[in-house]
Amino acid sequence: MTKEEMYADIRKWKEEKNAIILAHYYQNDDIQEIADYVGDSLALAQKAAKTDAKIIVFCGVHFMAETAKILSPDKKVLLPNINAGCVMADMITAERLKAYKEKNPDTTIMVYVNSTAEVKALSDVCVTSSNALKIIDHYQKEGKKILYCPDQNLGKYAMKLKGYKFDVWPGFCRIHHNLDCGMVERMKEKYPNASFVAHPECQLEVLEMADYVGSTKQLIEYVTASDKKEFIVGTEQGVLYEMKKRNPDKTFIPLSKTLLCGQMKMTTLKHLYECLKNETNEIFVEENIRIKAKNCLDKMLELS
Ligand code: 13P
Ligand code: SF4
Repeated sequence: MTKEEMYADIRKWKEEKNAIILAHYYQNDDIQEIADYVGDSLALAQKAAKTDAKIIVFCGVHFMAETAKILSPDKKVLLPNINAGCVMADMITAERLKAYKEKNPDTTIMVYVNSTAEVKALSDVCVTSSNALKIIDHYQKEGKKILYCPDQNLGKYAMKLKGYKFDVWPGFCRIHHNLDCGMVERMKEKYPNASFVAHPECQLEVLEMADYVGSTKQLIEYVTASDKKEFIVGTEQGVLYEMKKRNPDKTFIPLSKTLLCGQMKMTTLKHLYECLKNETNEIFVEENIRIKAKNCLDKMLELS
């Protein structure tokens, strides 16, 4: 089957079944092309919370589809490749977080959206890369003790930027964490006129070399609004699809060839096709966990 034939069936089934396809910016280009809506973690969660569709096909990783189910329990939420997880989300478990909470009963648990429903259910407020600084500000101004989990890099970046002090969990995203200052220096030498933009999951030293730090959506908006013509991009290469689409006259260079998330790239057009056709890989969240996790997500949506 050709790509166009697959697209034609997908469009027909979407109509017949009242389904919406949501995709993250790190998805393969052919998925982003057919999706109804492409976004960062926050925008996708907001879209999932508001949609009237009966079926949400979530082209992303497990925690994203789970977040959609938590916010929209009456919808059928499908994950085209059920094995697509997030390495960082697996770096914290409910058991370990419970143990932390027992030792630190008066600490506010701030959880990055890259986490399981069980971990969210134990947390006070959720954040994403696009609203973390704002939400950290809110709790710091109230004088609250905070644990930021599981991404140490965004936590350390917020502390440095704002002069705050709080606990961070030692988790990280391998793809972003592996970037180093030497890579940035070499690329800046090679492309002296380029701006360097980076995702806050990179290490602090790398972020300090960036002209702009933001979520996937914020990075896309920044390069689009900028007068510059060349950009070195410090995040997963999937964002280049939307950057190039919005800015055909600009050049985008990945900071490293290693900037590929194997989990995000696991979902192919064939997975999407089969998933929508057969309505397979449905995501379920146990109701008592869902209600607690929803409180944590609602708090984020309220403060965003
Ligand atoms: P965004 O919320 O910026 O889209 O990031 C999601 C993610 O997994 C980054 O690695
Ligand atoms: Fe998780 Fe990193 Fe992939 Fe984002 S890029 S989904 S944090 S493994």
